[in-house]
Amino acid sequence: MSLSSLDIDLYESEDPIWNPAMMAIPVPGIRKMVNMAASMEDVIHLSIGQPDLPAPENVVNATIEALRAGQTGYTMDAGLPELLESLAVYYSSRSQRKLTADNIMITTGATEAIYLALTAVSAPGRHFIVPDPAFMLYAPMIRMNGGEITEITTRAEKNHQLDPQEVIDAIQPNTHAIVLNSPSNPTGTVYPKETLEAILQEAAYRGIQVISDEVYDHLIYDGKEYPSALSCSTDLDNLMVVSSFSKTYSMAGMRIGWIIASQGAIKRLRRYHMFTTTVANTPCQWAGVAALHGSNDFIQNMLVEYTKRRDRLVELVEQTPHLTGYKPEGAFYLFPALPEGVNGTNVALRLLKETGVCTIPGETFGNSCSNAIRLSYSTSLGNIERAFERIIPWMEKQDFG
Ligand SMILES: Cc1ncc(COP(=O)(O)O)c(C=O)c1O
Repeated sequence: MSLSSLDIDLYESEDPIWNPAMMAIPVPGIRKMVNMAASMEDVIHLSIGQPDLPAPENVVNATIEALRAGQTGYTMDAGLPELLESLAVYYSSRSQRKLTADNIMITTGATEAIYLALTAVSAPGRHFIVPDPAFMLYAPMIRMNGGEITEITTRAEKNHQLDPQEVIDAIQPNTHAIVLNSPSNPTGTVYPKETLEAILQEAAYRGIQVISDEVYDHLIYDGKEYPSALSCSTDLDNLMVVSSFSKTYSMAGMRIGWIIASQGAIKRLRRYHMFTTTVANTPCQWAGVAALHGSNDFIQNMLVEYTKRRDRLVELVEQTPHLTGYKPEGAFYLFPALPEGVNGTNVALRLLKETGVCTIPGETFGNSCSNAIRLSYSTSLGNIERAFERIIPWMEKQDFG
């Protein structure tokens, strides 16, 4: 396509005030489905991307106490010192590596941390490696800044595990970063230590950043240890880890996340952060301090509840014609495949219209998975059962051949 026809496309079909980089932002498949569902009655949502449990009492109380104590001003640019210290202690013990407050910056949810990390590295001519399917923010943020992407496809038949050799083979001379997300949204797949070590070692050797999104790091089932990139990397020079309180403590709307990196990288990112959101929400940073110092019961109870739901969902998907499932080990998603060539978006739309079950089309999460749908089990066991009382008979009637 010539530049002039591209200009016409951009400037005549869209309002001309927008930076052409805005074209890298897709129409979000999740919003489309949820908006349509909002206009319908008796919808069962298997579309939810946040915990359905109330936040722990001590977290709510700490927010209110912070507000009453007048904690309504800005914090330091890196974040509330008490939260930075608490996170440093917590991560040092969890990852068995010495981290200080200078290795951490508090952000407005993990979303801001991802935004800062990706857009601070992406530039025209730079190459990135991203799994496919993946959380829908990564690719547009890279592309908005001119970066190019190689997608590493994962498959339901292989539990959506990432082959580290495929990642290593995709590295090019201009590769600047590899994005990882374990447990993954949308697949719930947890990468084993060996996968992370192989990728991190090669990345360190070649001077490539690994940006590891670990927001679901506490949603790990079957008593497994969580392999964080922090404990699989020899040093921090090539690693940025992002996470948040959103999923672990049901605090998604409180918008507190963070980025962990070398002290040098944090210094630079602090300057950038001043130009994005300045600082994160102050009372909710105090809530984060309370979360880290509170009891572990909330997480343990959530794991018990989500394990039951995961196990039942796996059984129900197995009983559903045309769906290929697997057993996810983390997060609260399953990403079953429909037969090759079947359009998952049509299936999700028809499921919603004809049965009132809201799922998310696979293509929301990448180019390789248009024959998939994302199912979330962040809803009651009763809702999961009722949803499949509708889905199974509907699927039985379909002839996708
Ligand atoms: C993989 C992944 N990363 C990041 C986020 C955003 O987290 P936060 O609410 O902390 O911005 C989400 C939210 O769904 C997610 O699934």
